[in-house]
Amino acid sequence: MRGSCCTLLLVLLSSCTALSADDGRSSCSRCDLQLSCNCSHAGLSRVPTVTGGALSLDLSFNNITMVTAADLTGHASLRTLDLHGNSLSVIHPSAFDSLWSLEELDLSDNQLPALNHSWFRKLEALQRLNLLNNPYRYLGSPSVFYGLIRLRRLAFGGPALEELRRADLCGVTQLEELTVHGNNLSRYESGTLADIWPLGRVTLKLHGLFSTNETLASAVLADVSYPETPIILEDLHLIGSQSLQPLRESARRRVRHLSFRNVSASDESIIDLLVVMDGVPLSYLHMEDVTLTGEGRWEKANWTDQRSIDEFFIRNVLVLDVFKFTSFLTLKFLLTYPRRVSVINSRVYVMPCQSSQLLVNLQYLDLSDNLLTDLTLAETLCGRNKTLEELRVLNTSGNALQSLSTVSRLVAKLTKLTHLDISRNSYSFMPSSCSWPSTLRFLNISRAKLTTISPCLPTSLEVLDLNNNDLSAFTLPLPALRELYLSGNKFLRLPSGKLFPNLQTLTIQSNTLNTFGHSDLRSYRRLQTLQAGQNKFICSCDFVTFLRSQFKGDGDVKLTDEGDSYVCDSPLYLQGEPVGRVRLSVFICQRVLFVSVCCGLALFVWILICFLLWKLHTFWYLKMTWAWLKAKRSSKVRKSKDSLEALLSFDAFVSYSERDAGWVENFLVPELEEPRETDSQPLTLCLHKRDFIPGQWIVDNIMSAIERSRRTIFVLSENFVQSDWCRYELDFSHFWLFDAGGDAAILILLEPLAKDNVPKRFCKLRKLMSSTTYLEWPQEEERREEFWRSLRSALKGEDD
Ligand SMILES: *[C@@H]1O[C@H](CO)[C@@H](O)[C@H](O)[C@H]1NC(C)=O
Ligand SMILES: *[C@@H]1O[C@H](CO)[C@@H](O)[C@H](O)[C@H]1NC(C)=O
Ligand SMILES: *[C@@H]1O[C@H](CO)[C@@H](O)[C@H](O)[C@H]1NC(C)=O
Ligand SMILES: *[C@@H]1O[C@H](CO)[C@@H](O)[C@H](O)[C@H]1NC(C)=O
Ligand SMILES: *[C@@H]1O[C@H](CO)[C@@H](O)[C@H](O)[C@H]1NC(C)=O
Repeated sequence: MRGSCCTLLLVLLSSCTALSADDGRSSCSRCDLQLSCNCSHAGLSRVPTVTGGALSLDLSFNNITMVTAADLTGHASLRTLDLHGNSLSVIHPSAFDSLWSLEELDLSDNQLPALNHSWFRKLEALQRLNLLNNPYRYLGSPSVFYGLIRLRRLAFGGPALEELRRADLCGVTQLEELTVHGNNLSRYESGTLADIWPLGRVTLKLHGLFSTNETLASAVLADVSYPETPIILEDLHLIGSQSLQPLRESARRRVRHLSFRNVSASDESIIDLLVVMDGVPLSYLHMEDVTLTGEGRWEKANWTDQRSIDEFFIRNVLVLDVFKFTSFLTLKFLLTYPRRVSVINSRVYVMPCQSSQLLVNLQYLDLSDNLLTDLTLAETLCGRNKTLEELRVLNTSGNALQSLSTVSRLVAKLTKLTHLDISRNSYSFMPSSCSWPSTLRFLNISRAKLTTISPCLPTSLEVLDLNNNDLSAFTLPLPALRELYLSGNKFLRLPSGKLFPNLQTLTIQSNTLNTFGHSDLRSYRRLQTLQAGQNKFICSCDFVTFLRSQFKGDGDVKLTDEGDSYVCDSPLYLQGEPVGRVRLSVFICQRVLFVSVCCGLALFVWILICFLLWKLHTFWYLKMTWAWLKAKRSSKVRKSKDSLEALLSFDAFVSYSERDAGWVENFLVPELEEPRETDSQPLTLCLHKRDFIPGQWIVDNIMSAIERSRRTIFVLSENFVQSDWCRYELDFSHFWLFDAGGDAAILILLEPLAKDNVPKRFCKLRKLMSSTTYLEWPQEEERREEFWRSLRSALKGEDD
């Protein structure tokens, strides 16, 4: 029995160690709050372990060579898996089986020598699949895509792809986007891509084929060309005539959108293209990253019909031989028709006036990111002469323009111009007046160097972008303005809303605003959205409260930028804190109220304490203790100086209230100091009135009087109880009694005084009254003889 248990344990243990031994997977915890895990560029050689709930897992650019069956189990909620740019060569047939929710899978740029249809059999939710640039030579059958019913974006192929057969794409029915890299295709079964319909954008890399296997390229193009499908051809190197023959298939199928990317073209090939497109209803021609090796002599194609061309979009064109490049004067057949022309980032420094005049239908001209100057812009727009009369939108963003008055003068004659984008130029000064077309509604002068604005700005404007200038004030009324962009300037406060009665949108981020509030916003009558983050806010109570209520949606104006971009700049202890998370205490926000309440409370407590102290006679106790301590010290000093005997110079010290002085002087002193009866000796009494050393502190005096007297007589009466000094005397005597020992105190009750009538705090007196027998002063004359006798014997008593 025990043996089998041990074996079981051993088995368990060994299986545990085995697990941890071959499970050499590191873990990746770079997940954000949206459960999107970015483990890209982490030097991983295995799929790492990540939280089971991850929605997105980016493993791109690692060194992962294989995905085992267990690597991705338990990731049922994963939507996106990116394995781009690894060294993947092995994927277990059921590696992706648990990824039921996967919508996007990227396996591009790996080393997969063949595709396996089992990988994808459970991925019913998959919408995007990228298999580009792996060394597989064919897709393989049965179709790897079979069952991917939701697939909408598919990319496959690479330098090694040699063969595509009809069955390969079985199961792919409709796509929004198809990308095929087939530079090295040598066999293509006609119709392979023809069953996909509807088909969105198609991107093809077939550059080898255009020069080596035109038939094959034609077959591919024939299968994907539809009027509604934009075709993008990449990586073509077009030299010589007839290089674009495969495009005849697309032309035949009346494609309307044609794009070229990463293309080099000679004059002959451009002519070829124009000839191929003769009469085709091509409306959109897009060329990006183009190298033109010729001289722009395309007039040989001037017999072709390019009437349907509506838009030329050209970006990043490099003309190898700029100086030989002719103007487009001979291209009337090409330039008369388009309504939209964009020539972006192509080092255009001028468009000759004669070319501009050919563009008679032009409504939209984008010459952004070129090398235009004020002078060449004047040439482009033909100075004062009529040109581009249909133009609605002119974009000269990102050029080298400097003078606002020049541009305003030049565009003034464009009587239909509504949009003018002159952003990212070098305007640094705004003249006091300018002339603009009365139709101008949209003006973009962002990213210039303006420091002030002036009435140069037309009052017809509805949208004005002045982002990223050096403005600090805006004082010009613009009654029609709906949108105003002032981010990246130096505004200290919001411009007054009274200037813009129709403003609906205002952005003023990244300025130096300290604060704003209800009253600022109220001055804007129509404002709906405001973006004012990334400013230098002073987080006062008013501001924090105001902003919180805005975030909650109170008020008519909506703050549309992220709440976290509103950050406190001061006070120092709140610097960097998002305003929405600041909690200011009542102490700071209601300071006056807080201080007055505190003071009131303190005063009340103080009064209460005083009252209590008074009620409990604490002052009296304190005074007494202090005096007592002090006196005790000086008594010690005295005692150490003289011997006790030398000190005793009185028979008794009489402690009495001032009010009882009459009795003491008239009765006690005569009776004891000058006795009528001869047998009684005269006694010496110490009276404060008579024997205290003038100038000495009274407590000291009392102290030394008590010390120097053998006995102390207390003349008790209501008056005595009232008198402070008497109480001291009583107390000192008590202390003396303790120190000296013996029955040194004699109490005389001058009037009946019940022990209970003595206030409680005179505990000493009460104690004395109960412990020492006291002598009562008789009212009857005949009993007084006896009283004196008793007193006298009490005074002498102990000494006998
Ligand atoms: C990937 O592995 C190779 C050798 O196997 C190594 O040379 C390379 O530096 C590794 N790359 C990364 C990003 O770790
Ligand atoms: C292109 O295909 C041929 C065979 O048709 C092959 O020999 C060659 O290696 C392929 N090129 C590349 C880059 O894979
Ligand atoms: C552009 O195309 C050429 C072949 O014509 C290719 O070698 C190059 O890698 C491509 N460049 C880019 C950026 O795709
Ligand atoms: C002008 O061109 C720039 C840069 O290409 C672009 O950002 C901007 O939106 C364009 N403006 C208009 C009005 O189209
Ligand atoms: C103004 O131009 C800038 C830079 O070209 C651009 O980013 C911005 O979107 C334009 N503004 C508007 C309102 O279109």
